[in-house]
Amino acid sequence: MRILVFAGSLRKESVNKKLATVIAGKLDVLGADVDFADFREFEMPLYDGDLEASDGLPAGTQELADRITAADAIVIVSPEYNHGVPGPLKNAIDWLSRIRPYPTIGKICFLASAAPSVVGGARGIIALRPALSFMGPWLSGDSFSLAQANQAFNDEGSIANEDLDKMLDGMLDRFVKVTGSAQTT
Ligand SMILES: Cc1cc2nc3c(=O)[nH]c(=O)nc-3n(C[C@H](O)[C@H](O)[C@H](O)COP(=O)(O)O)c2cc1C
Repeated sequence: MRILVFAGSLRKESVNKKLATVIAGKLDVLGADVDFADFREFEMPLYDGDLEASDGLPAGTQELADRITAADAIVIVSPEYNHGVPGPLKNAIDWLSRIRPYPTIGKICFLASAAPSVVGGARGIIALRPALSFMGPWLSGDSFSLAQANQAFNDEGSIANEDLDKMLDGMLDRFVKVTGSAQTT
């Protein structure tokens, strides 16, 4: 089973990229074929209907669509900006939504977030659900938010709090099982 994992942050030192790396490692251990992407690989301009009419889809949008199409499941690890979906990620969703059929249709999707705050970006995930759901993915009821993420990783890059780490293990185990069972139907 192939799973695309990426963080919705462009920053090199992004705590969401760190959490995405942890999740990718855990999925690899669970036997998934992980496609770990840097959001920078999907560079695209702000959505502009005139640009779409003259030039079609940006190459970065097509690349993201192709990687989604090639995957059975997707993990998006995103910060919250001002209690909502960060502009670059929402822009990517807006461009993707111009493709028919939606590349996200039928993809099992797990959402996670990280932030230095005590809510760990959870409000961003709440906002991300409706932004994605109309494009037909199977959004996992589970989601994982890492609070105080600037001090949540140990030197090896793992989640320092064992209880939180185990909670994430349980969620990813379920996610992989659901993805596996969806493949056989
Ligand atoms: C424009 C902007 C808006 C932000 N809004 C929130 C917010 O609503 N809640 C929050 O917990 N953190 C907020 N932050 C702080 C981010 O959680 C923090 O910068 C985090 O490190 C960003 O994720 P990253 O490290 O993966 O890039 C905001 C940061 C920026 C730049």
